[in-house]
Amino acid sequence: MSNNIESHLVENRVFKPSKVFAKTAHISSLEEYQELYRKSVKSPERFWAQQAAETLVWRKKWKTVLAWNEPYAQWFAGGKLNASENCLDRHLTGARRNKAALIWEGEPGEKRTLTYQQLHREVCKFANVLKRHRIQKGDRVIIYMPMCPEAVIAMLACARIGAVHSVVFGGFSAEAIKDRINDSQARLVVTADGGYRRGGVIPLKRNVDEALKDNEQIEKVIVFRRAHNEISIKEGRDVWWHREMEYVKADCPAEELDAEHPLFILYTSGSTGKPKGILHTTAGYLLGTAATTKYVFDLREEDIYWCTADIGWITGHSYIVYGPLCNGATVLMYEGAPNWPEQDRFWRLIEEYGVTIFYTAPTAIRAFIRWGDEFPNRHDLSSLRVIGTVGEPINPEAWMWYYTVIGGSRCPIVDTWWQTETGMIMISPVPGATPLKPGTATLPFFGVDAAVVDDQGNEVPPNVGGKLVIRKPWPSMLRTIWGDKKRYRKQYWSEIKGMYFSGDGARRDKDGYFWIVGRIDDVLNVAGHRLGTSEIESALVSHPAVAEAAVVGRPDELKGQAVVAFVTLKQGEHPGPELGDRLRQHVAQAIGAIARPDDVRFAEGLPKTRSGKIMRRLLKEIAGGGQVIGDVTSLEDFNVLMRLRGETKEG
Ligand code: WT7
Repeated sequence: MSNNIESHLVENRVFKPSKVFAKTAHISSLEEYQELYRKSVKSPERFWAQQAAETLVWRKKWKTVLAWNEPYAQWFAGGKLNASENCLDRHLTGARRNKAALIWEGEPGEKRTLTYQQLHREVCKFANVLKRHRIQKGDRVIIYMPMCPEAVIAMLACARIGAVHSVVFGGFSAEAIKDRINDSQARLVVTADGGYRRGGVIPLKRNVDEALKDNEQIEKVIVFRRAHNEISIKEGRDVWWHREMEYVKADCPAEELDAEHPLFILYTSGSTGKPKGILHTTAGYLLGTAATTKYVFDLREEDIYWCTADIGWITGHSYIVYGPLCNGATVLMYEGAPNWPEQDRFWRLIEEYGVTIFYTAPTAIRAFIRWGDEFPNRHDLSSLRVIGTVGEPINPEAWMWYYTVIGGSRCPIVDTWWQTETGMIMISPVPGATPLKPGTATLPFFGVDAAVVDDQGNEVPPNVGGKLVIRKPWPSMLRTIWGDKKRYRKQYWSEIKGMYFSGDGARRDKDGYFWIVGRIDDVLNVAGHRLGTSEIESALVSHPAVAEAAVVGRPDELKGQAVVAFVTLKQGEHPGPELGDRLRQHVAQAIGAIARPDDVRFAEGLPKTRSGKIMRRLLKEIAGGGQVIGDVTSLEDFNVLMRLRGETKEG
């Protein structure tokens, strides 16, 4: 079928789980995984009901596991519980009471530890602060904070009283805050004076002030003092966190909430179009994140768990806050940049705190590779036992580097595929069970009916590309787009009849492993061949001179689309036409002549969203020689774009 995405890159390396690891793992063989998986997708409701009983603390048991009226799901209807109680109170009756819940380090180096008891106390107090300001069940609260314990406290305080939090990433501008306040109709903002990043202070409160110009809807702004930078206080509207906490009691019983009570809205950073307010609800979301945290990271009581994401992304919500805390884990939280004061900050933290589980993004890994091995090599990383990635396909070469240099050829890598919309990890190895191959997220999680299909919804044969879909509802799926039911249905449930469409292209290999080939919108059509961008990028990155690559199409009269590669080089490598030719040849050898880039352009940096995804849309516009016309507010570093367009020489 000419409509299918072709796939040519072959990766043959396989890494089986070690016996030592498998012996103590929650799931300890591929057969065990397969058996459990088979049962779980045969009857997902039974599987999730059993998990729900084991994993969560209920005030009242549910009546129906799943009520499905496409595209609307209700999980555990009739059940009552509270997410904050599940993350805190349940741990207070035994030894976990005095276990570290959060270990925090600020960028300048301050250290704080909060035990479960201490975290519970702070959350109760802050919940009472919210109540004092008349925040009630169902009200929306915007949280715009640096990476500090108070961000977590604010989230759990909302959950405690049934308020709906919407966290806005601290790197976003006033404009982004304003949009989110308007769309969510929030009444209160929680922020800080500032937060540290690469030695400087990000003026969070100033951004909030700007966002609130002419705004009458926000009644209160609660300001946590973090960076001691100068701020202005608007009388009657703005109050200090530490003052407010003096007036309240530490006693605040958790509200008994419906299983489907809204927990949060999170706006997806738009590499395309207007941000969407993804709505997640209480029981299903909590169950999905808690179960995946346990099995995917093979979590144990004594782990020190570190996810480097920001709290403003879904990864921060699911795998810093709700998943780990629901499991009673010890979570390390770091405020600042990986290269402050030097490029070894992450490795220093791992050594100092004895981190055992480390979860980061391919974009970060490629930066580490660029900076050089000397930085991790300075530190003892032997405490690590599981390492993970999320956010993009990881190029096999980057995977190998991560595996050997960071994981000491000892730690399984969990390459986790999921989305803001899915709430939880959907496709991932289960360490101890799944043989790994560099560059693939491997197999679906229990209860997840993932498939690669053609436009009619039929599964395509092995190694043929198609659309990545989920064929049955799962507990942590988004429930709607806030205020836009039409868009919810259109975006996710109308592309392929009866299935959730992820927007990603993928293929499965002969072992059923899922290889994500990129967003469907990015797929190229070269002389009638549909090629995923990620394979060509991986081929480029496998060349020793290349640090990072992004591939886009440029309109071409002859071929439909020509392949344009933007490439950044490793330190010490020099761009030039000769290297360009060698790279073109390299791709032709790895994949085939059809994928040979027509054009290789060297760049100092690639345009990325603030969560590290390459913005191919912008590169497409540049490659096509036209103006960059789309929205660029989610761009991380505007100078990168200027340099690509040749508009500035500044370095
Ligand atoms: C998109 C979702 C989920 C938290 C972070 C991003 C891409 C994510 C992988 C992976 C290949 C991946 C997909 C997906 N993606 N993880 N392991 N392998 N691609 O959340 O911003 O909602 O983005 O990120 O394209 O659809 P998000």
